[in-house]
Amino acid sequence: MLPSSSLSLLLGIALAGPCVADVFQRPEQLRGTTYDYIVVGSGTAGNVIAARLAEDRKNDVLVLEAGISNEGVLGSQVPFFAPTLTPSTIYDWNYTYAPQPNLNGRVIPIARGRLLGGSSSVNYMVHHYGSSEDYDLLAKLTGDSGWSWSNMKRYIARHEKFVPPADGHNTTGQYIPSLHSTSGVLPKSLPGYSLPIDSRVIATTKELSSEFPFNQDTTSGNVLGLGWVQSSIGGGTRSSSATTYLAGVVGRRNVDVLLNAQVTKLVKTGAVGGKPSFRGVQFASGPQSSSTTVYARKEVIVSAGSIGTPQILQLSGIGDKADLAAKSITTHVHLPSVGKNLSDHVLLPNNWKVRGPSLDDFLRDPAAIDAALGQWQANKTGVLVHGITNHLGFFRFPKSAPIFKTIPDPATGPTASHWELIVSSYWLVPGVASPETGNYLTLIAALISPTSRGEVKLASNNPFDHPLIDPNLLSSNFDKYALREGVKSVRRFLSAKAWADYVVSPVNIAANPTDAEIDAYVRAFASTVFHPVGTSAMSPAKAGWGVVDPQLRVKGADGVRVVDASVWPFLPNAHTQAPTYLVAERAASLIRGY
Ligand SMILES: Cc1cc2nc3c(=O)[nH]c(=O)nc-3n(C[C@H](O)[C@H](O)[C@H](O)COP(=O)(O)OP(=O)(O)OC[C@H]3O[C@@H](n4cnc5c(N)ncnc54)[C@H](O)[C@@H]3O)c2cc1C
Ligand SMILES: *[C@@H]1O[C@H](CO)[C@@H](O)[C@H](O)[C@H]1NC(C)=O
Ligand SMILES: *[C@@H]1O[C@H](CO)[C@@H](O)[C@H](O)[C@H]1NC(C)=O
Ligand SMILES: *[C@@H]1O[C@H](CO)[C@@H](O)[C@H](O)[C@H]1NC(C)=O
Ligand SMILES: *[C@@H]1O[C@H](CO)[C@@H](O)[C@H](O)[C@H]1NC(C)=O
Repeated sequence: MLPSSSLSLLLGIALAGPCVADVFQRPEQLRGTTYDYIVVGSGTAGNVIAARLAEDRKNDVLVLEAGISNEGVLGSQVPFFAPTLTPSTIYDWNYTYAPQPNLNGRVIPIARGRLLGGSSSVNYMVHHYGSSEDYDLLAKLTGDSGWSWSNMKRYIARHEKFVPPADGHNTTGQYIPSLHSTSGVLPKSLPGYSLPIDSRVIATTKELSSEFPFNQDTTSGNVLGLGWVQSSIGGGTRSSSATTYLAGVVGRRNVDVLLNAQVTKLVKTGAVGGKPSFRGVQFASGPQSSSTTVYARKEVIVSAGSIGTPQILQLSGIGDKADLAAKSITTHVHLPSVGKNLSDHVLLPNNWKVRGPSLDDFLRDPAAIDAALGQWQANKTGVLVHGITNHLGFFRFPKSAPIFKTIPDPATGPTASHWELIVSSYWLVPGVASPETGNYLTLIAALISPTSRGEVKLASNNPFDHPLIDPNLLSSNFDKYALREGVKSVRRFLSAKAWADYVVSPVNIAANPTDAEIDAYVRAFASTVFHPVGTSAMSPAKAGWGVVDPQLRVKGADGVRVVDASVWPFLPNAHTQAPTYLVAERAASLIRGY
């Protein structure tokens, strides 16, 4: 995403480091072929499950990961380098969305981490839980009050470990300490590098407080307003599920992790109560490699993410019977919702030329990047501890907005949001190289409550073929309306006096665009925030739709659960890693019964 050749060079020098004990490269190294639990995918959720199960020394756990180790991957440690990790690298699955008709037929990458930690090793580290109404709606939709905010809050305490920012600045007023935990697993913090624009952003929340109020901490469950970003960064370094949860149990005798192990299907191992059991897992190291099958005494937990999980289920004969038959796959469980209801947050960058300062000159200066890397290596401070933003916020359209005369409000609740504003102090446009000169400001407007739905479908019965992934972005009137209004709103944001001596002119769009011009701009520049969910949705045990029950057990099957972002039936008011972590923490407690 970042254009800078200096950063690409740095990516090239990322070292492939030594492997930690009990992380294996070849199936022959495994202790056996039978474990109590097999976790498919060492990603964001998978490592939570693996670690929590392995904490009980009576459990024997195997984790199968298609990708490589995260050890020594510099780009995955230095927060500022996050955008160099994907797309189209050795850390990426290299998926793309199908050509999107509402985006001028463009094919956009949908990055997914392919290394220990999964997408938590490559994401942009924004770490917020979402609206209380997301969890309350999940409880209502599934009929399980355990998913409600009042219950889920307890998992925040287990999950996060709030630490001081890298620059040690006084954080009074930037968050609400009482909402946080300092004793969980994953170090997180407020921004560790202050930017010249920070004071302008905060001044705007004061000057334009009715439209853009300050929100001190969305962890209250109220997401509305703009505030200081919280990130999965501790001590100036990325916190992934691999550096936290997995690192905490690797080396124990009761957990094995196997790399280069791409699961090709779940294997039927009998039946219990009329339901087929799937306690076998088949995997291979590549299209030409022979496959190995391992077995779980207790359960298989599929945590391969919103694309990998529905693909594996379908390859295993769990899905829509007609779709599977079309790919010559025998259906064991007719479950039409597998892969359906795919939904994603849509990202729209809005760029302005500014008088500066911004981070653009730094990005073009290899010597400056080199010096910054020296500082980061010396004491984990400086500009490289910056992620992509210091401020973001969530906003609603008014009840009186004309769109609500034609469609019901799709927000998850009356205080949940429709769109998000992310402030970046450099040119940040996925797939579009940075101009060679100049300073820029990027205000990303992201659609948070999309009504469009798409699907993940097998392209063939070859597990090494990418599935067809079509989110149908912006296929609804609401979705188009939301980004159109978002473009207008970010312009009002910059109308504050705080920006008067900084902003010069908008880029790639007229100074006073018509609605038609805005729509054309959206079609040309919108892409994804990389938040697909919904493809193995949770629903009430007896519902005719959905893939897993509220305990995350695959419906109509025995011995297999899904635990990852795909179980969210709708998108939460947050970037999706922290909501995925909370789901995984509760899932671990359901499996262990604690
Ligand atoms: C570029 C990018 C930026 C993002 N930025 C943010 C952000 O700033 N904040 C935020 O909250 N969220 C962000 N996200 C989204 C967030 O990271 C994901 O929603 C979340 O990590 C998903 O977790 P998961 O457990 O569902 O899947 P993943 O973490 O992707 O884990 C799936 C794992 O399964 C493995 N796997 C898949 N298929 C197989 C198979 N067949 N066999 C074996 N292993 C397999 C994968 O290699 C991977 O390790 C971003 C994502 C990306 C890609
Ligand atoms: C993704 O593309 C990169 C660059 O072409 C390549 O090196 C990498 O191996 C690809 N990843 C996979 C999983 O094929
Ligand atoms: C941090 O700032 C607040 C008010 O801005 C002040 O009350 C407090 O004493 C400061 N803390 C430290 C450790 O300086
Ligand atoms: C999609 O999700 C909705 C609930 O959000 C549900 O009513 C519908 O049946 C789902 N569709 C499929 C195909 O699963
Ligand atoms: C970190 O190192 C830089 C120089 O490399 C120095 O300027 C800075 O003061 C150091 N910070 C801390 C907290 O030690």
